[in-house]
Amino acid sequence: MAQVFHKSFNTLSRVSLFGAVFFAAGGLWLMGAVNRSPYMTGVGEAVDQPVPFSHAHHVGGLGLDCRYCHTSVEEAASAGIPSTKTCMTCHSMVWSDAPLLEPVRTSWRDDSSIGWVRVHDLPDFAYFDHSIHVAKGVGCVECHGPIDRMPLTWRQNTLNMEWCLGCHRDPGPHLRPPSKVFDVHWKPEDEGLERSELMRKLIAEQGVHPSTNCSVCHR
Ligand code: HEC
Ligand code: HEC
Ligand code: HEC
Ligand code: HEC
Ligand code: HEC
Repeated sequence: MAQVFHKSFNTLSRVSLFGAVFFAAGGLWLMGAVNRSPYMTGVGEAVDQPVPFSHAHHVGGLGLDCRYCHTSVEEAASAGIPSTKTCMTCHSMVWSDAPLLEPVRTSWRDDSSIGWVRVHDLPDFAYFDHSIHVAKGVGCVECHGPIDRMPLTWRQNTLNMEWCLGCHRDPGPHLRPPSKVFDVHWKPEDEGLERSELMRKLIAEQGVHPSTNCSVCHR
């Protein structure tokens, strides 16, 4: 049998050589795992904001519609973040002295913007458009999760390419009637149809055929 190691190799160096190979392989695996882990992708981690704005209170509790604050979500690529004026509609009267809301009042006085920290931020080479998803009946919660129960906003999904493609290849299970896109409580059972029947109906009615062409998202 061919001798892999020179005789002078002692057991220790043999072990450490193999060890190094395994260590390197393990390291690569670990890097991959870390990249996919919630730690790197930020999935499920509440993001600290200059003002602890709570969707749980404003959407879950007060029942405000998404479009009250994210005004461009139906017409534009971007959903939009509300200006301080929108907050002051209520907070010039409600909780108007609360220290928690001081950054809102400061922003109002100085005509400066509140430095909201982005929760979702695709790289520039990827193109996303809210309006088409809204028009075709993909609910906000499909992508953003139970926003009405978030005291601070977090990212529910990775937003990586595989995630986008997963739905573009098989959108059926993610669709609802377009009139229910903003409804955080909607369930497929509400439509009173078999699941498969409902999917067929929605795909046909809205003419849903998402593309997986590279140029759709990389323009
Ligand atoms: C009263 C105003 C208001 C309403 C109503 C509201 N939002 Fe928001 N939303 C905000 C503010 C302010 C931020 C920025 C702070 C933050 O990220 O929590 C935000 C942030 C977000 C983000 C994260 C944005 C980012 O940085 O990536 C998502 C997603 C979102 N909202 C979805 C929704 C959905 C879905 C609804 C309806 C179910 C909704 N919002 C209703 C005010 C509102
Ligand atoms: C439609 C009225 C309305 C609008 C618009 C509104 N709020 Fe509120 N907000 C309230 C009410 C009412 C409370 C008290 C909620 C409670 O005690 O449950 C509140 C509470 C808060 C609180 C205290 C913590 C909490 O969530 O209980 C913060 C911070 C806050 N709002 C920030 C904002 C910001 C920032 C905006 C603008 C993006 C905004 N609000 C827009 C009505 C509003
Ligand atoms: C198909 C998935 C999907 C759906 C459905 C969706 N979003 Fe988003 N949303 C995203 C992605 C992806 C981003 C990040 C966009 C970027 O970084 O360019 C985002 C970003 C946002 C932001 C941050 C501001 C912006 O426009 O970049 C807000 C606010 C938001 N979404 C609200 C909503 C609301 C409200 C709805 C429902 C009407 C909704 N989204 C439906 C995927 C989705
Ligand atoms: C939950 C399902 C779902 C997810 C997740 C999703 N999409 Fe879509 N997307 C759709 C549907 C449905 C359409 C509408 C297809 C049609 O026009 O029939 C669409 C259309 C689009 C279009 C418009 C295509 C055109 O023909 O102009 C773009 C761009 C797009 N998506 C980008 C993205 C990106 C980028 C992501 C990930 C960050 C993403 N989508 C995630 C369901 C989804
Ligand atoms: C439905 C939308 C969509 C389609 C279609 C799509 N991509 Fe992507 N792609 C994305 C998004 C979103 C990202 C950014 C992912 C992230 O933030 O990690 C991305 C990232 C990438 C990257 C960077 C590396 C990576 O994986 O993050 C490459 C390279 C790439 N895409 C190539 C392609 C090619 C080639 C095709 C066609 C076969 C394609 N994409 C089709 C949405 C798409």
